[in-house]
Amino acid sequence: MTDKLKQLPPAILTLDDKSYSLPTLIGAEGEKAIDISKLRSQSHYVTLDEGYGNTASCESAITYIDGEKGILRYRGYPIEELAEHSRFVEVAYLLLNGELPNSQQLLEFSTNLNESSIIHEDMHHFFNGFPRGSHPMGILATMVASLSTFYPIPDRLDTATEQQIVINLISQVRTIAAFSYKKSIGEPLVYPSYKLKYVRNFLNMMFSSPVRDYQLDDDIVRAIDMFLILHADHEQNCSTSSVRTAGSSMANVYAVASAGISALWGPRHGGANQQVIQMLEQIHADGGDGTEFINQAKDKNSSSRLMGFGHRVYKNFDPRATVLKKQCDKLFDKAGVSDPLFDIARKLEEIALKDDYFISRKLYPNVDFYSGLILRAAGIPTNMYTVLFAIGRMPGWLAHWREMLHGEQVIITRPRQIYVGEPLRRYQDIEQRP
Ligand code: CMC
Repeated sequence: MTDKLKQLPPAILTLDDKSYSLPTLIGAEGEKAIDISKLRSQSHYVTLDEGYGNTASCESAITYIDGEKGILRYRGYPIEELAEHSRFVEVAYLLLNGELPNSQQLLEFSTNLNESSIIHEDMHHFFNGFPRGSHPMGILATMVASLSTFYPIPDRLDTATEQQIVINLISQVRTIAAFSYKKSIGEPLVYPSYKLKYVRNFLNMMFSSPVRDYQLDDDIVRAIDMFLILHADHEQNCSTSSVRTAGSSMANVYAVASAGISALWGPRHGGANQQVIQMLEQIHADGGDGTEFINQAKDKNSSSRLMGFGHRVYKNFDPRATVLKKQCDKLFDKAGVSDPLFDIARKLEEIALKDDYFISRKLYPNVDFYSGLILRAAGIPTNMYTVLFAIGRMPGWLAHWREMLHGEQVIITRPRQIYVGEPLRRYQDIEQRP
């Protein structure tokens, strides 16, 4: 526990006629917590909190969320201000270093990112080994883990090397992502360019080819940049918790980042952005307005959910969804640009927000509801959506990994359980078994 947490009067817990005094604490934004770190050693009780909805797994100074009020801040800065005024590279610097960069710092960081974007030439062969049609998230997780074999990490990690590894990962994840797409469509790889900035470089690697230049559209570049900002961190979500868990064993950071990518892939986490578009396409193909789909999502006997709705933390609105919806409005208001899926999404949102099922469960559009439409407008194929989420989240994962590594102590993550299996029984020879 650091001295950043203020102490409150202790809580008294009575168990089996014995009283235990548990320290209570308050965080920088008034979040209160009971410190149970000594509970088991003193009382032999553990706490049960499936899914950790009531458990703070660490102290962190990176991101603040108030799910009831729809607040999200990176290092104290409201997400709305960062989305409007900042750029992804600057936000990555902020998350990693705690402060916004000055011009010189931003230039150095940005130049270093550009100059670290090439991956080892021998890694290119790996892309040929994946079967055609492989999901790019599988390729991304594999390739990021394999960076550890091409760029071994020294046993003693000094500050400069650690900083360079972090830069490599943020830069190379984008190169690997674009290469996996190129391979999946059977086109030659396009190398990163030192001349292009982060998002432009990525889009160029994705969409240009030796026979065709890619015309970068400023509005699309801006929309993708904003998408990355909005996805850059979200405190102890599933993938970031996986990063901290894997990192707590002191595994190398490439394996740690790969663990984050794997956790992100699931449809209840980052995979939802792909599912939202598939859902909208299905509704469009069926010719409905979404009412039937909503009825299915409400049906307890159906496993279907309204994708892009609901959040473990946001019980009012997801501020990222609000920003993205505005961005969608801007993109689709442009002359000649329209998307029937955007109209269906608007309609679905309208129906759901008036429906008692969603109101009573506090289910509102989350970041994934509108993000897929932005990626679609940019021409990004559906199976790359979660890959873009991973590119955006990389600075957040690495900021958490670094915060953990440089904390007062690295405690390996090792929750307890409550055993509900068979009591002691004796081994039986196979002939004696029923
Ligand atoms: N559609 C229909 N019903 C839902 C939905 C939904 N999208 N989300 C939750 N519910 C219902 C759920 O069936 C349950 O109902 P009941 O109380 O009658 O059993 C109730 O709402 C509470 O659901 P829960 O699963 O206990 O809530 P949770 O906080 O554990 O889950 C969630 C949060 C995001 C996994 C869930 O809302 C969900 O599956 N949403 C759809 C997937 C999605 O959009 N995921 C992206 C999350 S945001 C991006 C990210 O950070 O990863």
